[in-house]
Amino acid sequence: MRVGVAREIKPQEYRVALTPAGARELVQRGHEVLVEASAGVGSAFPDEAYERAGASVVSVDEVWSRAELLLKVKEPIEPEYTRLRPGLTLFTYLHIAADEPLTRALVESGVTAIAYETVETPDGALPLLAPMSEIAGRLAPQAGAHYLEKPKGGRGILLGGVAGVAPGRVLVIGGGMVGYNAAVIAIGMGAQVTILERSVDRMRYLEQIMSGRVTLLMSSSLQIEESLKEADLVIGAVLIPGALAPKLITRDMLRAMKDASVLVDVAIDQGGCAETSRPTTHDDPVYEVEGVIHYCVANMPGAVPITSTRGLTNVTLPYAEELADHGVLGAIRRDPALARGVNVVEGKITYEAVADAHGLGYTPLDDALATAVA
Ligand SMILES: NC(=O)c1ccc[n+]([C@@H]2O[C@H](COP(=O)([O-])OP(=O)(O)OC[C@H]3O[C@@H](n4cnc5c(N)ncnc54)[C@H](O)[C@@H]3O)[C@@H](O)[C@H]2O)c1
Repeated sequence: MRVGVAREIKPQEYRVALTPAGARELVQRGHEVLVEASAGVGSAFPDEAYERAGASVVSVDEVWSRAELLLKVKEPIEPEYTRLRPGLTLFTYLHIAADEPLTRALVESGVTAIAYETVETPDGALPLLAPMSEIAGRLAPQAGAHYLEKPKGGRGILLGGVAGVAPGRVLVIGGGMVGYNAAVIAIGMGAQVTILERSVDRMRYLEQIMSGRVTLLMSSSLQIEESLKEADLVIGAVLIPGALAPKLITRDMLRAMKDASVLVDVAIDQGGCAETSRPTTHDDPVYEVEGVIHYCVANMPGAVPITSTRGLTNVTLPYAEELADHGVLGAIRRDPALARGVNVVEGKITYEAVADAHGLGYTPLDDALATAVA
């Protein structure tokens, strides 16, 4: 198969969908790999590294027009819509339930689109989202510690403390992938860490793997209110799948927090878990409300593309290989996890939540595949 790798043009996006190591794997399996010039530069992969791996470095027009399978990181943005065409399969993060213009562009163009974020294994895990949650979780204490420094507007406390001086207190709300990773790093920094979770099973698991190193408490409105008063750094890491994040932190609760404490609301991409959270960017990451510094960057992993690109491609490559080896339709038929990722097939929306979100027609995947030609 002819596999293309497009350069990301969305502002602040430095990741790339395939590393030179991944390119070599595909080439060794007999596929042709076309990489757009400079696609890897933001992640410290020069064009020559892809050429050494056996890929061809090509222009933007060539990669979009010649690829049969196009690997990307972010959804196509408007200037890319005209490049979508029948016979092309896109494999990328899409998030189209929240993006009607893109949904229409995908449907009208006749492409087949497989979304990283809806690839789902039979046990309900989302393997292509997990590494970004790991990274955002691990970044959260680092970002929080930075804004706790006095010259950054923070309280002026060192999370690790020092001999004879108490460490800072970190409150993590939500003990899933983000929350666990945030806790691991905060512990490593020497902070005193509390995790609030509402799933007892998850708490039992965290208890097993983190026993003695964190305080685990059942999440409730009262517990959140009490714990917030003690915290120097709060990390919002809740998720209710398919829904907006619950507003667990009210403005009144913020008023009772320590002055110049920090809230890193990682759940901001689902609306945030504080009433006062609104999305920010890496260019302008923080603002203050009721004396609490809010860090609400919606694409935290974008700050560390060298790590993020490798973390992402480690999990996407096996699926890209499947698609290339068995053909798009063959791979979708073989692998139920990949099938869950299919959002659009040649003009038909095959992911019910996406169709519902925009009031458009839904076609079950099997019906769409029965008439597909790609
Ligand atoms: N800002 C970013 O750059 C970025 C990057 C990656 C992920 N995220 C977001 O971070 C959030 C967390 O993602 P995740 O992968 O850890 O999800 P996850 O499903 O692994 O974990 C979420 C946890 O929240 C818990 N939870 C739900 N309601 C709760 C409540 N009321 N109190 C306490 N805990 C509660 C769940 O039981 C679960 O354990 C999501 O919104 C995700 O989209 C943001």
